[in-house]
Amino acid sequence: MVSTPIRIALLGRQGAGKGTQAMRISHHFAIAHISTGDMLRAAVRAGTPFGEKAKAYLQRGELVPDAVIVGVVAERLGEPDAKRRGFVLDGFPRTLHQAEALESILLPEGLGVVVNLEVPEWLVLERLASRRVCSVCGANYSVAMPPHVDWTCDVCGGEVVQRADDTEEAIRRRLAAYESATAPLIAFYEGRGLLETVDGVGDPEEVHERMLEALARHGIVGEAG
Ligand code: AP5
Repeated sequence: MVSTPIRIALLGRQGAGKGTQAMRISHHFAIAHISTGDMLRAAVRAGTPFGEKAKAYLQRGELVPDAVIVGVVAERLGEPDAKRRGFVLDGFPRTLHQAEALESILLPEGLGVVVNLEVPEWLVLERLASRRVCSVCGANYSVAMPPHVDWTCDVCGGEVVQRADDTEEAIRRRLAAYESATAPLIAFYEGRGLLETVDGVGDPEEVHERMLEALARHGIVGEAG
């Protein structure tokens, strides 16, 4: 039986839990988790030309130019796993131009649903201040949920540190960029009948259940066999 690929995009301000929920959704449906932030950080670590272009933007907490990111996402969406089973996009699109480019890339089907994770600003500030990540593989921890041994990653043994853009100044810039460039996408997708708003406050598992209910309203059901 040929099943239709699942195509999900997540919106939400920094720290709303897009990465946390995208990982769960990706496992649940066995679809690709495409995080532009992870792709950019991996490119910076690897010192590729793309990473070199992106590095300063990431450190300042500014958006990487559309022209740099759109091509990379288009290429990733063209890979066999994303084409066959589908994907959950985490951190893309973030501007109107990126949303329009994505529509062209995904012609003729387009996205199946866009989930906006809603979390108040005071709470995302708390979450980002306590976040810690593995400097090698990117695994996520927090001050409240550290790795088992002395800030050493449980997954790969790398050093667990504060993300370079989780400083107070960079967080302020990222949140400002969200309000001016990304928040308008809520109305954009609402106008296309694709938007689901999910309360992102609460235990990650509780939020995941709410996400599954929202996806089911758009016919996205079942789980990886
Ligand atoms: P990116 O990596 O996408 O970062 P971000 O948007 O700043 O998002 P975050 O990772 O901070 O938040 P999140 O919503 O994923 O939350 P998370 O699950 O990690 O982008 C980084 C940079 O790359 C950008 O600033 C930009 O420079 C560039 N970039 C990326 N995409 C781009 C694009 N399309 N165009 C241009 N530039 C681009 O959770 C945060 C913390 O909260 C974690 O510690 C987590 O454990 C915790 N947490 C999550 N959920 C819960 C919960 N329910 N309860 C308690 N704690 C929780």
